[in-house]
Amino acid sequence: MTRKAEAAPGPTGTRRPAGGRSARLAPHTLAARDAWASALEAVPRSRFLPDLIWPHDMATGETTSVDRARDPRAWQRHADADEPIVTQWDDGNHRGEAPGRSFTSSSSMPSLVSAMLADLDARPGHRALEIGTGTGWNAALLAHRLGAENVVTIEVDRAVADEARRRLTDFGMPVRVVHGDGFLGHADGAPYDRLIATCGLRQIPHAWVAQVRPGGVLLVPWGTYYGPGEATARLVVAPDGRGASGPFTRPVAFMRMRSQRLVWPRHDDYVPPGAVSAADTSSTALTEAQLLGTGSFDAVDFALGLRVPRVARNVDRKHDGQRAVWFYGLTDRSWAVVVFRDDRERAKVYQAGPRRLWDEVADAHAWWVAHGEPAYDRFGLTVDERGQHVWLDDPDQVIGRPQGASG
Ligand SMILES: C[S@@+](CC[C@H](N)C(=O)[O-])C[C@H]1O[C@@H](n2cnc3c(N)ncnc32)[C@H](O)[C@@H]1O
Repeated sequence: MTRKAEAAPGPTGTRRPAGGRSARLAPHTLAARDAWASALEAVPRSRFLPDLIWPHDMATGETTSVDRARDPRAWQRHADADEPIVTQWDDGNHRGEAPGRSFTSSSSMPSLVSAMLADLDARPGHRALEIGTGTGWNAALLAHRLGAENVVTIEVDRAVADEARRRLTDFGMPVRVVHGDGFLGHADGAPYDRLIATCGLRQIPHAWVAQVRPGGVLLVPWGTYYGPGEATARLVVAPDGRGASGPFTRPVAFMRMRSQRLVWPRHDDYVPPGAVSAADTSSTALTEAQLLGTGSFDAVDFALGLRVPRVARNVDRKHDGQRAVWFYGLTDRSWAVVVFRDDRERAKVYQAGPRRLWDEVADAHAWWVAHGEPAYDRFGLTVDERGQHVWLDDPDQVIGRPQGASG
């Protein structure tokens, strides 16, 4: 059974350019890339997967079920492939083979898993905390290098936590699996040398910084409400232990932490009948490609989200050479829409409400262009007792304080 994936985020893959293909996992290639290759060979992903899996094709966006009992060879092929595999839908409320509405637990792409472990720079002797146990495979990889006694992992979903604990024990790596909300971290095991989150955050809790020793590293997928643009922040805890700061290392697409999911605004609540004809109108020379980027590695979404806080954006499907892109304010009923038409040079804009959301987006885009269209790795994040702020090139060049939807 097949299902087109939700628009974003994906079930944890590296964001690929459109048209990219899933590659077979090649351990020797990975060996050249990072020190985690031998762990990947010693700890096969297949030992942590359930019999019913939903591999996700990053190129087509399709998610197809594979049942081990019915097709063991296909199951093994997918387990060994460099692709994300969905292992739970709809917080476990969905049963059966057909894909559900939203993927809520998965095993990430092996190449991304190894790249993140390399970024984390966890070494023998370190103690590590993982947020988001999922299948338990990443915890097992950590345990392979650090020792099972030095790894704690937290999972919010009880059934997922129980299954991972069982598989870790069966594999001979009895990592401590805690069932609970990872947002609080796990103070009992602190201080840690390393903290890795394998679900996406919009707001990193200071508790995590407080639980990692000075000089220790946090690696956290992070993004705003604006769009799917997300990247891993690699934060090093300051010598006084009060804050942590560092650059973004790579674009990713993780499912968000349960408590930080976006509850999509209801279009009709913002734009009731007649609202478009009553809205302020203007036009823009910004093109669809400039606003949306041309590949999934494009940093434009990420950058705009940093400059336009508390806004969700929705891109309509293209229809008859026309595409509408909507913006919804998350703390008031401000909205805007820009309508691109293939046969027009300028796009029409409608906006209404206390904020002028399109003006904010256009200003943010001009700012991004004026700064040389920075990619993810020119941005960085600092988390301290006052909250979090994002910077460009240098921690002193603060460009925004993106908070939660209500912040
Ligand atoms: C991409 S999966 C993790 C993959 C996992 N590391 C592995 O090796 O299979 C993300 C996981 O984060 C969990 N999660 C979401 N919110 C959480 C929270 N607040 N605390 C702990 N886990 C959470 C989800 O239930 C899901 O299992």
